[in-house]
Amino acid sequence: MAKKAAEIKVTETLNKPDRELDMSLRPTRFADFVGQARARERLELAVEAARKRGDVLDHVLLFGPPGLGKTTLAFILAEAMGVNIKVTSGPVIDKPGDLAGLLTGLEKGDVLFVDEIHRMQKAVEEYLYAAMEDFVIDIMIDQGPNARSVRLELKKFTLIGATTRSGLLSAPLRSRFGLANRLDYYGTEDLRTIVKRSALILDVDVDDAGAAEIAGRSRGTPRIANNLLRRVRDYAQVKADNKITQTAADKALEMLDIDKHGLDEMDKRILETIAVKFSGGAVGISNLAVSVGEESDTLEEVYEPYLIQEGYLQRTPKGRVVTPLGYERLGLKSRGGGPARQGELRLE
Ligand SMILES: Nc1ncnc2c1ncn2[C@@H]1O[C@H](COP(=O)(O)OP(=O)(O)OP(=O)(O)O)[C@@H](O)[C@H]1O
Ligand SMILES: [Mg+2]
Repeated sequence: MAKKAAEIKVTETLNKPDRELDMSLRPTRFADFVGQARARERLELAVEAARKRGDVLDHVLLFGPPGLGKTTLAFILAEAMGVNIKVTSGPVIDKPGDLAGLLTGLEKGDVLFVDEIHRMQKAVEEYLYAAMEDFVIDIMIDQGPNARSVRLELKKFTLIGATTRSGLLSAPLRSRFGLANRLDYYGTEDLRTIVKRSALILDVDVDDAGAAEIAGRSRGTPRIANNLLRRVRDYAQVKADNKITQTAADKALEMLDIDKHGLDEMDKRILETIAVKFSGGAVGISNLAVSVGEESDTLEEVYEPYLIQEGYLQRTPKGRVVTPLGYERLGLKSRGGGPARQGELRLE
């Protein structure tokens, strides 16, 4: 298919330590984007249909835990549509005028990618409604008696919003996205494919078992898989003949204190708090949030899904309960404490 070359403009630099490498490992085409079959299929279809009609892609909302590919997909979408992409993030746009500036700079079909869209200010968000729906923005100029509203016509654009906290999006904003896609944690198979692809780019030798070892410790998250791969690569270069085998991966990750099952500090703190402080649960989300020092929305949207998917935690009507598998991961016995046994009973 003949495609207009995409010129990618980035208005804001992504200030992550491994930014350059992160960019080079980031797939730029649907064909290289591993997993997330449902979301990918829907988005590919939408792109194809829009291109056939010569139309602009509908607004897209991407939500799900960190590191699963939201930003990656936004770039892939712009590339597939053959349009420019401007990148910004919710908290950066601090007045309606900033938003107007961004929107008036867009050409027909361009993508405005708003990361952390849940952190956009209410006052700014309200301007976005008309921009998304009618492609106009009414801006107030001057103050006091001279204050007047000026209507700016916008070119038809695509807004791609990304958020880890979809629960915090207002209903009016959410309803203006024609395509809402949730990204889920990746299975080990998909992560293994990602590790092998990244290894190829990094020019490091990894066998199946080595890739599987890294995949299994990646908390279902491609970003973590890539980070672990880089650390294992260092180890392999120095100590294992530049080959990532299962043994090399295991030794490297052990040395770095990476959990065998991919749990991070917060995951462990959550499980431990429920198991020890609340005798296994059930504990309500707000109590848990205070105890681990995190907001309850973040617990619900960022941490719990993985713990539940892996079978370490259960949501019950009374609250959160650690499962026997959860106890096992913590190296604790679930027998002995009353409520802990309750958690166990719930499963059986
Ligand atoms: N499906 C995928 N296939 C291959 N690599 C992927 C995939 N998804 C993500 N990655 C890799 O993981 C890294 C992190 O992805 P990305 O930055 O898109 O996540 P995100 O969902 O935007 O995270 P955050 O919520 O923290 O912004 C990318 O640089 C890319 O290398
Ligand atoms: Mg991102």
